[in-house]
Amino acid sequence: MDYTIPQLEPMKGIFGSQEFNLSEVDSTNNFAATLISDQLCQNGAVIMADYQSKGKGQRGNTWTANKGENLILSLVYMPDNLSVVEQIKLNWCTSLAIVSFLTDYEILATIKWPNDILVEKKKIAGILIENQLIGQRVSSSIIGIGLNVNQLIFELPSATSMKIERKTTFSIYDVKNKLVAKMNDFIGLDFQLLKDEYEKSLFNRSQTALYEDVNGIFEGVILGVNTDGSLNMKRGDEVIVYGMKEITYRIDF
Ligand code: BTN
Repeated sequence: MDYTIPQLEPMKGIFGSQEFNLSEVDSTNNFAATLISDQLCQNGAVIMADYQSKGKGQRGNTWTANKGENLILSLVYMPDNLSVVEQIKLNWCTSLAIVSFLTDYEILATIKWPNDILVEKKKIAGILIENQLIGQRVSSSIIGIGLNVNQLIFELPSATSMKIERKTTFSIYDVKNKLVAKMNDFIGLDFQLLKDEYEKSLFNRSQTALYEDVNGIFEGVILGVNTDGSLNMKRGDEVIVYGMKEITYRIDF
């Protein structure tokens, strides 16, 4: 019999060096933290689950996703030499990897600062990065990604999924493999390049829109970000710098 043996794509990059596929877990980020503290995983480990019973979101929120319909992923990254001063690079890199991944599926996404991924005004993915520091260095990072893939019905009107956008069902495993490949493409990129690309992809950048801070609702224009992750907002003749949790977007759906 004459046949050729299919060649497996060699793994390019650190992410995907080890894979854990779980059917149910409290949180893949928590699972990753335990693996790291018990020294049971290596740099680049990928943890995926069909379902999380206590998925964690940003700002202490929960992250819920129907079983088996979405990508629930945590990546373990142990950088050689990443200073705390540059840790924001991981948020920029992950946000851009998701946007680029979605672009390949003809889904045009933007980044709502600091790292919600939107399609038009609706959220398709969220990122929760938890860093462990030793002195002034990041010793390990858990990069948690929740991506809405095949779910059609959400509690919030402000959510969407790949299936809603493209009217087709996706293989969660293909999605995971392609996104992990994107992470490998972006992780090595230069800090300034990531910052520039992140700013170009920001939702509402350079457009007048409504925001709310402690003083109330106002019209402002997002200009860009700073290397500590804060946001520069033009308000009248002033530029105000906002940290996380200091501002909310007023979006009508
Ligand atoms: C957000 O609030 O937008 C961040 C959501 C992050 C959810 C992901 S799902 C995989 C990983 N495990 C968690 O518990 N959270 C993150």
